[in-house]
Parts: sequence; C-alpha cells; structure tokens
Amino acid sequence: MDLYEYEAKQLFGEHEVPLAERQLASTPEQAAASAARLGGRVVVKAQVKTSGRGKAGGVKVAEGPEDARAKAEQILGMDIKGHTVHRVLVEEATDIAEEYYVSFLLDRANRSFLSICSAQGGMEIEEVAATRPEAVVRTPVDPLAGLDRAAALAICRAAGLPEDLHPPTAVVLQRLWRVAVEEDATLVEVNPLVRTTGNRLVALDGKVTLDDNALDRHPERFPFHDDGLADSREARAKEKGLNYVKLDGQVGIIGNGAGLVMSTLDVVAYAGEEFGGVK
Ligand SMILES: Nc1ncnc2c1ncn2[C@@H]1O[C@H](COP(=O)(O)OP(=O)(O)OP(=O)(O)O)[C@@H](O)[C@H]1O
Ligand SMILES: [Mg+2]
Repeated sequence: MDLYEYEAKQLFGEHEVPLAERQLASTPEQAAASAARLGGRVVVKAQVKTSGRGKAGGVKVAEGPEDARAKAEQILGMDIKGHTVHRVLVEEATDIAEEYYVSFLLDRANRSFLSICSAQGGMEIEEVAATRPEAVVRTPVDPLAGLDRAAALAICRAAGLPEDLHPPTAVVLQRLWRVAVEEDATLVEVNPLVRTTGNRLVALDGKVTLDDNALDRHPERFPFHDDGLADSREARAKEKGLNYVKLDGQVGIIGNGAGLVMSTLDVVAYAGEEFGGVK
C-alpha cells in the first residue's frame, strides 16, 4: 500500500526524521487557517498517490493565509495523472540551500535492500539518473546486518554529500532505515532531503510503500487503509474479503484469480463485438 505524503510524514515524525511544520486541509478555508497558524509563507501541496505533483502544478508557494486559500482553491479538485486532489498539505516554507535524494527499497532480485542516494535531488532526479547515472549512488543494505553508522557514513561519502553534513545525514539515514524495517516498508523515499540556508536537514517530501503482507503486524496502521475516499463499492467488497475492480461496460465478471478474470474479460469483449461492442 502506498501512503500519502502526509501519512509518510506521520511515520517519519514517529521515527524522529526532521520535518517542517505542516497541517492537512480539505477546503480552501482550512488551508487559510493552517497558513495563519503556521505563520507567513507556506507551501500548498496536493495529496495524491502519484509522483510528479510539482510539475503538474500541485505544489505551490503561498505568501500568507489569503494566498494559501487561493492556491488551495486551484489545487483542490485538480486531476493529477488520473488522481483527484481531495486534500492538500499546508507546510511551512523552508529556505532551501541544496536538495538531496535518499531512499531505501526492497531489491527482490537480490533478496536484499538497496539504498539510493544523490547529492543532486529534487524534481529532476529522473533526468539526473538518466543523464548522469554516476551522480546517483546505489548501495546494497543487508537486511539482516542492517545499517550501522559506518555504513550510513559510507553512503554519504559515496554520494558526494558536503562533508560537514555527513554526521547529521547518517543519523537521518539510520532513522529512515528504521522506518523501513520497523514499519515493514518496501520503499522509503525522501526527495528532496534539503539543507536549509540555516544548515538544518529537513525531509520535505516523503514516499512510503508498506508491505500489505505484513499488515497484521501493524494494526495501528489500519487507518492508512481507509482514508474514507475509496470507491464505496470497493470498500464494501473489501469488508467481505473480495477484490472489486470497477470497469466500464455492461457485463460483470465474478471470477477466481486475476489471470483467469482478465482472460474472461477479453473473451467477453471479443464475443460482445457481435452485439455492437458489449463489454
Ligand atoms: N515545505 C517546503 N518549503 C519549500 N519548498 C518546498 C517545500 N515542499 C516542497 N518544496 C519544493 O517543491 C518541490 C516539489 O515538492 P515535492 O518533492 O513535495 O513534490 P514532487 O517532487 O513534485 O512530488 P513527487 O515527489 O511526488 O513527484 C521540492 O523539490 C522543493 O523544492
Ligand atoms: Mg518529491
């Protein structure tokens, strides 16, 4: 299960990863009130489970409460890659000196974890990875041995982070690693992890995928599964232990096994062609 940014940051907070002050809002009025509470400049951020929000216009700086209301008005209801924005995170604007990229992800092929780190983080990280792969450092992390301080420092060095930041970044890396292990996450990503102009480290974005197979070990995370926004039929099916997938068409399929159901859908659509394209 992918988490929203605000949920990922809740986990980060519980594991003492440094964050900016923030508040969730589902109306422009709430966004204005949050901005007033946070005081001054804020960033209004679309909460959707997809990447590229910034580039799609879903991350906007606001100069104060009234501006936050206006920005929230623009962002709420926006469609980002097929995801409707129902809520925004209003976050204290941070003065950024540099942006880094750090993540831990499950590396199934190697039965291991992989840390990925770059001193060139931010919204162009895919571009950096494609054109200058040497700027993105991949280091295996043995899931049994874990990530000790020496290993965390080695990642900072390999990625070429500024030397004075190695000790605090190593601490953040170890805390993010703890998020991965203790929360049974298959992905923990921070892009960007920023150095502020005041030389603090702050995780300004967060992406976490929890392993659904481990959900029983984390009853306290059940609320993440039900954000109250899921299609109600999907929610009702889930209550009964069924998977329900909403599709277009006139004929419903009740089946057993994803592969068989997909084949059946194809067969029905094929047969339906004789009847004017019944699906
Ligand atoms: N609180 C903040 N203060 C200042 N700048 C911010 C803040 N939050 C985000 N930004 C800026 O906006 C950029 C995009 O934000 P963010 O990383 O959250 O969205 P995104 O990268 O577009 O989303 P995704 O990672 O889901 O593709 C960041 O790289 C950062 O420069
Ligand atoms: Mg990001």
